[in-house]
Amino acid sequence: MARIARYYREYGIKLVRGFMQYVWDDNGRRYLDCNTNHGVVFLGHSNPKIVEAVKRQLEEIWAVPLNFSTPAREFFVKEFSKLLPPRFGTIFLQNTGTEAVEVAIKIAKKITRRPVVVGFTNSFHGRTMGSLSITWNEKYRKAFEPLYPHVRFGKFNVVSEVEKTIGEDVCCVVVEPIQGEGGVNPATHDFLKALREETMRKGAILIIDEIQTGFGRTGATWAFQKYNIEPDIFTAGKAVAGGLPIGLAVAKEEYGDVFDPGEHGSTFAGNAIVMAAAAAASRLFREEDIPTRAESMGAKFAKALSEVESKLAVRVKGAGLMLGLELRVKADQFINSMLERGVLALTAGVNTLRFLPPYVITNEDIDTVASVLSEVLKTNSS
Ligand SMILES: Cc1ncc(COP(=O)(O)O)c(C=O)c1O
Repeated sequence: MARIARYYREYGIKLVRGFMQYVWDDNGRRYLDCNTNHGVVFLGHSNPKIVEAVKRQLEEIWAVPLNFSTPAREFFVKEFSKLLPPRFGTIFLQNTGTEAVEVAIKIAKKITRRPVVVGFTNSFHGRTMGSLSITWNEKYRKAFEPLYPHVRFGKFNVVSEVEKTIGEDVCCVVVEPIQGEGGVNPATHDFLKALREETMRKGAILIIDEIQTGFGRTGATWAFQKYNIEPDIFTAGKAVAGGLPIGLAVAKEEYGDVFDPGEHGSTFAGNAIVMAAAAAASRLFREEDIPTRAESMGAKFAKALSEVESKLAVRVKGAGLMLGLELRVKADQFINSMLERGVLALTAGVNTLRFLPPYVITNEDIDTVASVLSEVLKTNSS
């Protein structure tokens, strides 16, 4: 029998079922899921409203290329548009986050005809060759160089360097409002404002990567809305289809005809099952006012993290339900002991434990995380 290629750390448990904020292994043991497949299951595992929409669609039609219209896609566009600020009139459909970044860069290149893509220290934008080129950490990048050659890395949150980094040769600047993989590092207001102003001055396109921060995760529908700026393009993915694969770039209306036929495309993009799930997710998003819930439960979660008594804890970072607990030591040594105590979590950067729970997380769940954390930070302290 073949095996799946090994490029992920394996935790040695088999997950067989999930419902909302919990998953169960093959021994019937329940875990609180603050990993959520790297943020994908923000609306909960098997959320009944999404299950219902997918089941209905399964009986109708699955695969419809973008050459044809289909009700599931029309319904998605209608529902998702209600979550977009007014100027964002075009959606480029993809299947993953990294593809969303790729298409955003392609749009910027086609419009500006300039070579340089700007990324930042500690960024993460994906693992295909273009998005990998603007991903900072060498552990993702080094083995595959040379990558896209015209990349310039600026210093994240250093306003005084923005002018120098964004020259007339820059087609686009790509930035996360809160760096996820890089350590749950929020951008400052001044930094994003400086990027907006300088890209406008130089005729470059500002792309905000909302793949981890977007769709309510940080307490706003899109994290950039908390900064009072608007990019030219933003990307989204992860939770948008309630757990099915999706990535998209959202752009100003006038970018809608940027590609000639054949210049862009994707076999699976806009798949009807995914569209039905994403339409249901977008409707549920409004009905349940998910950003407000993320903001209020996130504040409680952050408070609980800040009260964990441990000499290893440095500070709590992030916003809404995208939170990190920075430690004085490497964070990955604690993931297994949390798992043994029934909590799934992630790391970010080297020293940060990261929590990306579903929006339905309760006060009791937060207490569980806090008590598990104080226990594991006491017992493992190498
Ligand atoms: C900010 C950001 N951009 C891009 C990606 C890549 O998304 P995907 O893994 O769906 O390709 C991720 C994934 O974690 C991300 O956090």
